[in-house]
Amino acid sequence: MVVPSFNSIEPQDLDEIYAIEIECFGNESFSLLEYRRLLSNNSSIPIKAIVKNRIVGFVIGVYQMSSRSCTVVTINVKPKFRKKGVGFELMRSLEKGLEMLNCKEVVLQTRVNNTAALNLFDKLGFSKTSRLVNYYPSGTDGFEMKKMMVS
Ligand SMILES: CC(C)(COP(=O)(O)OP(=O)(O)OC[C@H]1O[C@@H](n2cnc3c(N)ncnc32)[C@H](O)[C@@H]1OP(=O)(O)O)[C@@H](O)C(=O)NCCC(=O)NCCS
Repeated sequence: MVVPSFNSIEPQDLDEIYAIEIECFGNESFSLLEYRRLLSNNSSIPIKAIVKNRIVGFVIGVYQMSSRSCTVVTINVKPKFRKKGVGFELMRSLEKGLEMLNCKEVVLQTRVNNTAALNLFDKLGFSKTSRLVNYYPSGTDGFEMKKMMVS
């Protein structure tokens, strides 16, 4: 277990964040433009995990105040820092922020073959709500998962 600190992602973090996205998803990554838009969206909740001054992972949620619903758009942990609790703590940090916003539910999508992500979200209390056929550019199916927040 490493002990990162958690802070909001700043505009100047974009290059470091995007390098991690490429490291995690290669040619299935979101584009740099999509990241720019995400980080400048007022509804985004972007959180980074820092170890020794370097970003080792991040999560970005988008909160819709009208529906009190948050979509987790992306969560990535650098390969060297995986399986040490960073992803779990990033999600807990997001959820703590969402509790203060009186969020009702958190939704996300993940590939059906992404065992690490499926186990992570299962451990956090998410349930599969539907299968999304051909959801990803590669043709892979996805699962939509949801967690109801206690309010
Ligand atoms: C999914 C991901 C964010 C998990 O981050 P992480 O920091 O390694 O996760 P944690 O160490 O906090 O693990 C929490 C739980 O997730 C599950 N998990 C994590 N990695 C796993 C693996 N390789 N295999 C199986 N389960 C795994 C376990 O249930 C684990 O709990 P445990 O330690 O009690 O067994 C990370 O693997 C990653 O960045 N993957 C590439 C990007 C990605 O797929 N993002 C998700 C898109 S929806």
